This record gives sequence, structure tokens and C-alpha cells, in this order.
Amino acid sequence: MNNFTYERLHSNLQYLKLDTIEEILDNYLELAARDSKTTMEVLDHLFEQEKKHKDATAIERRMKSAVFPVKKTLEEFDFDFQPSIEKSVIEDLATLRFIHNAENVVLLGPPGVGKSHLAIALGIEAVKAGHSAYFINASSLIERLKKASREGVFEKKMRDFTKYKLLIIDEMGYLPFDEEGAHYLFQLISKRYEKSSIIFTSNKSYGEWGEIFQDHVIAAAVLDRILHHSTTINIKGESYRLKERKKQGIKTVIPYT
Ligand SMILES: Nc1ncnc2c1ncn2[C@@H]1O[C@H](COP(=O)(O)OP(=O)(O)OP(=O)(O)O)[C@@H](O)[C@H]1O
Ligand SMILES: [Mg+2]
Repeated sequence: MNNFTYERLHSNLQYLKLDTIEEILDNYLELAARDSKTTMEVLDHLFEQEKKHKDATAIERRMKSAVFPVKKTLEEFDFDFQPSIEKSVIEDLATLRFIHNAENVVLLGPPGVGKSHLAIALGIEAVKAGHSAYFINASSLIERLKKASREGVFEKKMRDFTKYKLLIIDEMGYLPFDEEGAHYLFQLISKRYEKSSIIFTSNKSYGEWGEIFQDHVIAAAVLDRILHHSTTINIKGESYRLKERKKQGIKTVIPYT
């Protein structure tokens, strides 16, 4: 290969943003010549490496923008500790069919039983499979929508929260919503209805959602939309945090038991 060809090849690879190929090309061509690789094998290897690197970068970017508070995976989840959860149901959710079908997932149960863990783990599966996701606490979500409304950018904020393929709304019910907040959340849920999935976690049973919204009519309308296409996982069991404290021999009074 003469100098001109070499320079032009590298410059074209840069122009086409084939950075991985550009980086590995020289070394790989030497190895390929030594091992008498065919042209087809060389091209296949180079493009495969480029694709792998681009995929990994895209996953990293989506992971960052999902703002998961911590990293939790399905492999780390101890199903034996929480027998009220059917492992097959979680495995089915992990196929992400629910995202393709724009269905919702609701994880209900008392503190520490793994609701947020499973929500994050499913979110990470979604991101790895190429979907955009966003994790937010219910109260923060409402605060963000209220702030947007005050600043005259409510519609834009709504579009932001609607664009993610998967939205995870954590901790529905720890703090009740006021009328304005309940109204905004209803609008967001309506916007995403039958278009894209939401995973909710809540310590309150559906019967108590009227208290969260402080309005039984809105709560009923919200639940009607969420539950139309959804999977509910009702977790009944002991807190994993409590188990870990017990293991460490620490006795604490749990205020909510
Ligand atoms: N079955 C489990 N196997 C492994 N780790 C678990 C399990 N259940 C919970 N954990 C861990 O215990 C901690 C508490 O779980 P998590 O935050 O998911 O609880 P939660 O149900 O969301 O509780 P809260 O309602 O208080 O938010 C986390 O560190 C989580 O990773
Ligand atoms: Mg939680």
C-alpha cells in the first residue's frame, strides 16, 4: 500500500467515524497477512469490532442518561429469599416483551422487599437491549413537572418524559400528591398510555392509591389506564435490609412494623 492510499484510507475512516477500525487497522492487517486471512475475513473482523465498540458506547450513554440511583441486576436477586415472587414472571418480563407491547409493570410491597432492585434490574436489561430508559422518584417527577409549569416549559418537559421507551417511577405513595401534582402525573400517564411502558413501585396496595392522589376519581382514572395492559407483582415478605441487619447481629426497632 503506497503512502497516498494509506493516508486516504485513514482519513476516510476518520471522516466516516469508524474510529475502532482506524485504531486497530495497522496492527490487524499485519496479523492478517501473517495468518493468511482472506479479504472477506479481514473485512468481517474489522466491521465486527467497530460494531461491538459502537454498541458498547451506546449502552454506556443510555445507562448514564437513565440515571439509575444504583446498579442492581437480576443475577444479584435472591429469589429464594422472596418466595412470593414467581421467578418465571420476572424472567418473562426480562424478555422485554412488555416494552414492545407498551405494557406496564407494577411492583407492590412493603419496604425492603426488592421493588426498586427489580425495577432497576429490568431497566438495565432494557438499556442493554437498546431501549432508552429513565428512572425517577415519584415526588421528584412531580416537582420537576411543577417547576416546568412555573417556568412555562411544561409541554417540553412532558415531551421529555414521554420520549423514553421505559419510564421507571419509583416510590409511588411514600409522599401523597397535592391536586396539581396528581393532575400532572395523570397527564403524563395518559400521554404514555398504550404508547410506551412505565414500571411503578409502591408500598401502597391499589386500594390505597386514592390516598396517594388524595382524589379517588383521579386515582381510579390513573389505575384504569395503568392496569389495562400490565403485570402486577405483589411482594409479600420480609425486608432484605432487615435480614442483612439480623445477619450482622444488629437489633433495630423498625418504626413501620
Ligand atoms: N431478594 C433479594 N436479593 C438480593 N438483594 C435484595 C433482595 N431484596 C432486596 N435486596 C436488596 O435490599 C435492599 C433493599 O431493596 P430495595 O431497595 O429494592 O427495596 P424496596 O422494596 O424498593 O424498598 P422501599 O419501599 O423501602 O424503597 C437493596 O440493596 C436491594 O438490592
Ligand atoms: Mg425502593
